[in-house]
Amino acid sequence: MTENEIRKGLAGVVVDTTAVSKVNPETNSLLYRGYPVQELAATQPFEAVAHLLWSGELPSPEQLAELRRIEREHRALPDNVRAAIDLLPLEAHPMDEVRTAVSVIGASDTAGGGSVLDASGSPEENLARSIRLYAALPAIVAYGQRRRRALDPVEPRDDLDYSANFLWMTFGEEPDPVVVDAFNRSMILYAEHSFNASTFTARVVTSTLSDLYSAVVAAIGALKGPLHGGANEAVMHIFDEIGSAENVVPWLEAALAEKRKIMGFGHRVYKKGDSRVPTMKAALDTLVEHYDRPDVAALYTALEHEFVSRKGIYPNLDYPSGPAYNLIGFDTLTFTPLFIASRVTGWTAHIMEQAGSNALIRPLSAYNGPDERHVEGYVASAEER
Ligand code: CMC
Repeated sequence: MTENEIRKGLAGVVVDTTAVSKVNPETNSLLYRGYPVQELAATQPFEAVAHLLWSGELPSPEQLAELRRIEREHRALPDNVRAAIDLLPLEAHPMDEVRTAVSVIGASDTAGGGSVLDASGSPEENLARSIRLYAALPAIVAYGQRRRRALDPVEPRDDLDYSANFLWMTFGEEPDPVVVDAFNRSMILYAEHSFNASTFTARVVTSTLSDLYSAVVAAIGALKGPLHGGANEAVMHIFDEIGSAENVVPWLEAALAEKRKIMGFGHRVYKKGDSRVPTMKAALDTLVEHYDRPDVAALYTALEHEFVSRKGIYPNLDYPSGPAYNLIGFDTLTFTPLFIASRVTGWTAHIMEQAGSNALIRPLSAYNGPDERHVEGYVASAEER
């Protein structure tokens, strides 16, 4: 890249180092702290992956037990967060609801309004804040979905792990192990993805020495957009529009003629296929079987086949996760908040990494506005001249 060359969207620009994860589009691999994400999704509970992202190592049995103890301690929806959500219109987008809830948690942590680097933001304190946020998010997401369905909230259960308890608080029923396993895999696959738009946003905010909560709130704003996290919600709207596999060809022809983007396909980094898709597709397959919904698998396969053969653009993680969350019973509007509940682990790992070796992120721009001109009648004072 030559000096002053502009790379729109920072495409291909390496802005810093990170030890949190490595994306390699050539080998179609994604490593969290060195471990292939597929291996983690097949073998670990989400809690262990959260520990890995924050600390750099998978937990010992004692460390996992300790994280689970703290997580369980902070599972209940704080009263003031519930009160703040209740003030919002029922039509508010759940992403706005979760963003507001995190803001309330931040404002209530009166030691947390300070900088990520000052005395109120030591690495230990920021780790404790990260764990508390990750522990509280399932209650926030579950409360939102139940509120929209006019259902009473469900109290957390101490005898269930993170994923099972998340489903319990959302649906008020003990979840089937097949469903817990698919959901746990999705949480692991969504947890981290290097310098994606929301993580980079969190790092920009952190670089100003703002606080951890402000960085997470900003990241939620970036995640909401359909080119990023909002795509899993958008995929489901597309599935609803198409209806069934027979309608795929006419629907796709019309969509492409209108130059619509097909949500759930394409990626800035992966051009030959998203490394997370096969694992999530396998999880979707278990759900299709569990719920006996071959129609969902038929639509999935038909759209993938038609779009890939016409455009050579492959599915990303949001393509299998959208229908998976739908089968589990989440409202479409709740899909991207589920992404928050997972990605908060990656965001906070990056916030702590940025804070640990900070440089203000402040790029340059090339001005292309009008040449210098002057306000009619303005006469510069002697000092200004
Ligand atoms: N549907 C139709 N055309 C597409 C798509 C798509 N999903 N993705 C890329 N293209 C076309 C695009 O129109 C462009 O064509 P042309 O050169 O003729 O103008 C070409 O492919 C390059 O696309 P781009 O948008 O310039 O490439 P990018 O690297 O900026 O885009 C992307 C990456 C994810 C924004 C894009 O693929 C997209 O909009 N996909 C749909 C939204 C989506 O699924 N987002 C989730 C991303 S993965 C999860 C996450 O990070 O949150």
